[in-house]
Amino acid sequence: MILCFKSKNRENIENQVKINTLLGIECFVPLNFMEGQKRIMIVNMKGGVGKTTLSTNFAYVLSKFEKKKVLIVDIDPQFNATQYLVNQKDILNHFKVNKTVYDILMPDKEEDVDLAGVSQKKSLTINISDYIINIKNFENGSKLDLLPSSLKLINFETSKRGAENYLKNFINSYCSEYDFILYDCPPTLSVLTISAYLASSHYLIPIKPDYLSSLGLPMLERGLKEYEDTYGHNLQPLGIVFTMVNNTSTLPNEIIESIAQSGKRKLYTSKLSHSVMVARSIGNNISSLEDFYRNASTERYATEYKNVTTEILNTI
Ligand SMILES: Nc1ncnc2c1ncn2[C@@H]1O[C@H](COP(=O)(O)OP(=O)(O)OP(=O)(O)O)[C@@H](O)[C@H]1O
Ligand SMILES: [Mg+2]
Repeated sequence: MILCFKSKNRENIENQVKINTLLGIECFVPLNFMEGQKRIMIVNMKGGVGKTTLSTNFAYVLSKFEKKKVLIVDIDPQFNATQYLVNQKDILNHFKVNKTVYDILMPDKEEDVDLAGVSQKKSLTINISDYIINIKNFENGSKLDLLPSSLKLINFETSKRGAENYLKNFINSYCSEYDFILYDCPPTLSVLTISAYLASSHYLIPIKPDYLSSLGLPMLERGLKEYEDTYGHNLQPLGIVFTMVNNTSTLPNEIIESIAQSGKRKLYTSKLSHSVMVARSIGNNISSLEDFYRNASTERYATEYKNVTTEILNTI
């Protein structure tokens, strides 16, 4: 690996990523070394539209069938993606001794003042294995990892300047090995979604094709545009995936038309059906998901997630 010393030129610094501190020397790696990495936020302010189900299935298909190294970042205080992928006992063990997204957004103070009032610099050595849970390794070298969330994020608010960049800085510094990083977002626009936004290159919107769900879409897009204007960072829209589609009725045309807005938005032709089989694909550890892709009884629904993944890969 080529290591470069930190450039004094501001523009160059912005095009470099700190990879670690080696023997006390800051080492930077040019951003284009990670150009192939795709970072996708799965976002919709509307709750219960299938964001987490899509995130976990998409992550599984990418790692298992597309042979990619995938990290799923759970940035939702409900920590559903974490619960879908890891059993309860292991989550509790992780919470006891290890770290979550919360610790990235609220790092220990860099400086403590001792009793004499003298500033003591704390060591900020990061051990990536304290944060990441390996969910599955596949024979071909691909894998699925999780950066878990925590209920503690419910109270998360910060007035600290620049805190919205902490997640991006962490991903830049420690997660270059992944082909895909997927952020499972909460159903809000908040500092959590801003953090995911700034750490992303693309966004994907799952939506239930019903009238009420379609109402929130312009608001969501306006919110993301505001982030772009405020932070000067823009994401590539990947498009809209219809989730929980009821196959007994045709998709209401006027809703589809209003969502498509005369071709302004990309809609994926592969759709995800509403089925109890899909709901069951996510249990309380990875084995439910593995069964979903293995069993003949669920093949039809598993194929829908594979088709959506193929379409997304053709777009990106
Ligand atoms: N295709 C589907 N068919 C039937 N049920 C589904 C389908 N997809 C998801 N569900 C179920 O719908 C519920 C909501 O799904 P999910 O948690 O993925 O939504 P979400 O958008 O992440 O919700 P939240 O906004 O609360 O994070 C879950 O109980 C899930 O099992
Ligand atoms: Mg969710």
